[in-house]
Amino acid sequence: MSSQLQAPKGVAEYVPPESEAFLTVREALCEPARNAGYKYVELPIFEDTALFVRGVGESTDVVSKEMYTFDDRGGRSITLRPEGTAGVIRSTIEHSLDRGQLPVKLWYAGPFFRAERPQRGRYRQFFSVGIEAIGGDDPALDAEVIAIANEGFRSLGLRNFRLELTSLGDSNCRPAYRIRLQEFLSRLDLDPETRDRAALNPLRVLDDKRQSVIDQVVDAPLMLDHLCSACSHHFAEVRSYLEVLGIEYSLAPRLVRGLDYYTRTTFEFTHAGLGAQSAIGGGGRYDGLMTTLGGQDLSGIGFGLGVDRTLLAVQSEGIVLPPRNPLAIFIVALGSEAKKRAVLLAGEIRTAGIAVDLSYGDRGLKGAMKAADRSGAHFSIVIGERDLEKDTGELKNMQSGVQETISLATLIATIKARLL
Ligand code: HAM
Repeated sequence: MSSQLQAPKGVAEYVPPESEAFLTVREALCEPARNAGYKYVELPIFEDTALFVRGVGESTDVVSKEMYTFDDRGGRSITLRPEGTAGVIRSTIEHSLDRGQLPVKLWYAGPFFRAERPQRGRYRQFFSVGIEAIGGDDPALDAEVIAIANEGFRSLGLRNFRLELTSLGDSNCRPAYRIRLQEFLSRLDLDPETRDRAALNPLRVLDDKRQSVIDQVVDAPLMLDHLCSACSHHFAEVRSYLEVLGIEYSLAPRLVRGLDYYTRTTFEFTHAGLGAQSAIGGGGRYDGLMTTLGGQDLSGIGFGLGVDRTLLAVQSEGIVLPPRNPLAIFIVALGSEAKKRAVLLAGEIRTAGIAVDLSYGDRGLKGAMKAADRSGAHFSIVIGERDLEKDTGELKNMQSGVQETISLATLIATIKARLL
């Protein structure tokens, strides 16, 4: 006996009706970017492994532990993309998008892959919507990126989310801060593994969730207190734009992101209904990434929003999303001649841009009306053999139950008049 095949471990899948809500969430998160002049990019799902090693950083968990990496049939090392920014920058350089008008504003959406330990809201294949604004230093651009994410969440009706904001400094002030932090950490009583982390990526230690570490780092120096004057000024400007926009945030000087490329403005959106995997989106500036990937010295800023987690957030707040493409009408044909008329009619109704379904198979009137009921259509229409001569049908309003005989030739106009 063959065993039942299942989806791979830790992969999120969506089937109706939840898949409809998934699409609504995904579109809601994309829409504000389109309204702000971002243009769509469709990028490969796998890339050369070197792109992520160089772009995301070898010291990150994402690169060192979580990548799906394999050799293709030509012996090249390929990786399923764990995030989108590195690919967008690679593509921008490859297609010289940065040689035209700046900033280049791009958006994308699709699946990403990280071999993490699966749990609620943490999957090995997850779906993100992202934007990148490349070649702009203006702090108003930072505020725009944050406002776009905020608008996506808000437009879904979400309320219990927060914005956490910090600045990670730049190549001017961060190295000195890093040394200062390492000096501080070297005086603490840390286990060997944490000590190694302090050497490699000391900021991570500030984000340690263990109480023994938390207690020791309360007085650690914070990047926000050691910004150079240019970074400090930039951050103050970003904050003043957020104020103008009325976007609330809390300062999160210990915020650490899982990717190495961040500089200056860095942020995360979290939702109270998600438990441990509370980040529904995050992003920031990455002012050195383009040069790291072989391009010109242009700054950039962007975000990635988690569609799976945003859907969980929507569900946790009990938000009922409007149905997508609800059926206007369900056609029930009784007999083979009536079926031909129904098939033709359904085609015409669909061409007119109206959603219609019809009953298939020989169910009889009772079974077919049950299907009409379950379909959620606003109207049903029954076409019997006897109606064909007059080309009429019995139209029924499924909510009120009111029925009337109407001409099939005018059916489209009738539906439009009643529904649109
Ligand atoms: P990220 O924070 O690593 O950022 O991922 C973006 C979002 O994807 C997260 O906030 C989270 O909602 C979702 N996410 C991440 N991992 C998982 C997972 N295993 N399961 C479910 N959802 C997940 C980036 O990827 C950056 N590229 C964002 C960015 C763009 N920064 C600048 N530009």
